[in-house]
Amino acid sequence: MKDRIITSDFTEVDIEIEKTLRPQGLQEYIGQERVKKQMGIFIKAAQKREESLDHVLLYGPPGLGKTTLANIIAREMGVGIKTTSGPAIEKAGDLAAILTNLKEGDILFIDEIHRLQRTVEEVLYPAMEDYALDIIIGKGPGARSIRLELPHFTLIGATTRVGLLTSPLRDRFGVIQRLELYNPVELATIIRRSSGIIGVEMDDEGAVELAVRSRGTPRIANRLLKRVRDYCEIEGQGIIDLKITKEALDLFEVDAVGLDQIDRTMLITIIEKFDGGPVGLDTLAAAIGEEKNTIEEVYEPYLIQLGFLSKTPRGRMVTSRGYVHLGLEILLKKEADPDQIKINFYSNEEETNE
Ligand code: ADE
Repeated sequence: MKDRIITSDFTEVDIEIEKTLRPQGLQEYIGQERVKKQMGIFIKAAQKREESLDHVLLYGPPGLGKTTLANIIAREMGVGIKTTSGPAIEKAGDLAAILTNLKEGDILFIDEIHRLQRTVEEVLYPAMEDYALDIIIGKGPGARSIRLELPHFTLIGATTRVGLLTSPLRDRFGVIQRLELYNPVELATIIRRSSGIIGVEMDDEGAVELAVRSRGTPRIANRLLKRVRDYCEIEGQGIIDLKITKEALDLFEVDAVGLDQIDRTMLITIIEKFDGGPVGLDTLAAAIGEEKNTIEEVYEPYLIQLGFLSKTPRGRMVTSRGYVHLGLEILLKKEADPDQIKINFYSNEEETNE
């Protein structure tokens, strides 16, 4: 897969960006109001009882601030945080070593927790439930198990794929929070905050334009902000306004709703080669030369969220909204398809209401 400026994955360029822009406390954290309010209460209640916080599972698309939130929770609780990830813990012994090094009340943050090996996951069960580590000594009939006490800790797990978590693991989290894509108003607020921190002048119209092209994702917004700043330094007059933002993002091939060339190629391929669909995932993957997983996890979610693509039992279809966005006429043939006609009516109705 080609590097995309609008990828929501964590990339090399994001290391520095996120280090400087990451909010430090719940007050500073913009959006995710429901999660913030609930976590604020759970944190205060745990502090009042002088207990460790219940284990927390954070899930949702990449780039929305799961790691940031875990760090904020640690800071608000006034405890230490150890960070690792599912694939980084190779053996049960690796996890045992991490757990025995925790201090009372500490947070253990495991990113991509759906990628934990089963043998490692089994060590987590008694650790989460009883703050205990069961160690087997010896082999065969003489083998016995000894139980080691662990400090009371809080596990914060993060995942983009909550459906891949086993139910015994999921059931051991006392708090499960879903992070949502940010709306443009929230994103514009994040962008204004970020531009202040990196010291660039940006007006409200520029911030809103950048927000609607950032796919609901602060990580993308912050990355694009840096690229727009570069553009502004060379082509602009010191302030990032609507005109500069539009020009820069058009140049980077991020369109008015945040699609890039790859998204458009996928929609156009479905339209041109498969009459707009439905087309099966295998066929589509072969037609655009991409992995099935990449299509499902990277390309599709945002196209579906925009209502440009629909998943039907017979395969993927470009919706009338998708056609309209690409500036294409809906094929007459489609109008004979009752499913599609329904989508047309729905979509037209929405268009006129806007
Ligand atoms: N940067 C990234 N995500 C943020 C958020 N939710 N609030 C403030 N700044 C952010």
